[in-house]
Amino acid sequence: MLVATRVAALTECILLVRTEEVLACNDVLVMKLCGIKLDKKDTFGKSDPFLVFYKCNEDQREMRIPVSSLCNGDVNRTLKVECYDWDSDGSSHDLIGVCITNVLELSTPNSTFELKHPKKASKKKYTNSRTIRVEHARMIKNYGFLDYIQAGVQMNFTVAIDFTQSNGHPSDPRSLHYINNVGLNQYATALQSVGNIIQDYDSDKMFPALGFGGKLPDGSVSHEFFLNLNPGNPFCAGIGGVMHAYQSAIRSVALWGPTNFAPVINHVARFAAAMRDGTNYFVLLIITDGVITDMPQTVQAVIEASYLPMSIIIVGVGNADFSAMNVLDADNKVLSARGRSAQRDIVQFVPLRDYLTSGDNAMVQARLAKAVLAEVPDQFLGYMRRHNIEPPKQRLAPQSISSGPSSAQPSAPPM
Ligand SMILES: *[C@@H]1O[C@H](CO)[C@@H](O)[C@H](O)[C@H]1NC(C)=O
Ligand SMILES: *[C@@H]1O[C@H](CO)[C@@H](O)[C@H](O)[C@H]1NC(C)=O
Ligand SMILES: *[C@@H]1O[C@H](CO)[C@@H](O)[C@H](O)[C@H]1NC(C)=O
Repeated sequence: MLVATRVAALTECILLVRTEEVLACNDVLVMKLCGIKLDKKDTFGKSDPFLVFYKCNEDQREMRIPVSSLCNGDVNRTLKVECYDWDSDGSSHDLIGVCITNVLELSTPNSTFELKHPKKASKKKYTNSRTIRVEHARMIKNYGFLDYIQAGVQMNFTVAIDFTQSNGHPSDPRSLHYINNVGLNQYATALQSVGNIIQDYDSDKMFPALGFGGKLPDGSVSHEFFLNLNPGNPFCAGIGGVMHAYQSAIRSVALWGPTNFAPVINHVARFAAAMRDGTNYFVLLIITDGVITDMPQTVQAVIEASYLPMSIIIVGVGNADFSAMNVLDADNKVLSARGRSAQRDIVQFVPLRDYLTSGDNAMVQARLAKAVLAEVPDQFLGYMRRHNIEPPKQRLAPQSISSGPSSAQPSAPPM
């Protein structure tokens, strides 16, 4: 296998060499190479060099080369590296020179490699076609989601429940919020399924829970209220506590509207913004019956949150038109608005109706939870890698639940 990777200029070249997990070691070699006075190959302008490693990966300027495929974990194994001048017409790239090295040398800062052109090598006066130098190099680990969790990174799950009128009056059996003593309504099903899984990753198992779009007992309409109706403390003990708070709120909060998502997203984002160091990762689970009324504000809030250690999971209940959710989910297209684009995809949308069709309750819950949580580990790693955050060396002390900015008190914005 021979893969060429173009580098705009060799001074910009960053190679990331990573071992496969099949090997016991999961080191990643990060290094920067520079070319020194490379032979000119184009008639006009500088040469435009790129390197060819035998058995290497391509990822724009940043190469991730599994050490296992490069040298099968043997850092002394001989490697041949060819350096070419890139010709944009793609016809034939000109060989500048070849060097013989190994991963040990490549990972040693300041080591240099002479590029020799095979055809010129026999000529008398020829010494080399200049050199490549390793500007800097370091080995890093290729960490997985569980490495961070085991090192004590806290997952902070916040639940937000839709209290808008379109759900149907809780006394109506057709209501998505139907209060009954026999089974779980759609909200309770979603809460329980996902909650049972996420509580394993949340060490203190104290879940902040919010409601939105409801009219509180004091007559105010809120898009960001604490589900337990305790204005001083949003935390519910375990998913049991969240279920309990939900069952009691649905009896005292009148379903109202409109369906605004931005306030709860911004609520969690305020906490995430205060903890960007990778010690905490925030997941907001929004359970809703659908049609968002504040789409522009929600898109803006999601874009801002994509720069933070935060993911948003939206579970859609009922049969509404969820097309707006798929826009937010952005699996195919980067979310952008007003000239700013999301840094990464942080929204996962799952329609509950796709999972209610068949099977017993336990099956439904397991399949739903799996779908809902599928993207979280990658989104989490996406944040950590982008910000060069490794799992903490010393296990983090459990957080006190009272920490966090005081601006977190929910406000009751006017409709
Ligand atoms: C690689 O070679 C160096 C010196 O030549 C030696 O010290 C080292 O043990 C070798 N490493 C492996 C993994 O063979
Ligand atoms: C590499 O060279 C630079 C200057 O040429 C020097 O400052 C630096 O200490 C060297 N690094 C190592 C690891 O030798
Ligand atoms: C988790 O996030 C919520 C906001 O949704 C906040 O109220 C709470 O204080 C956070 N917990 C920790 C330990 O940061």
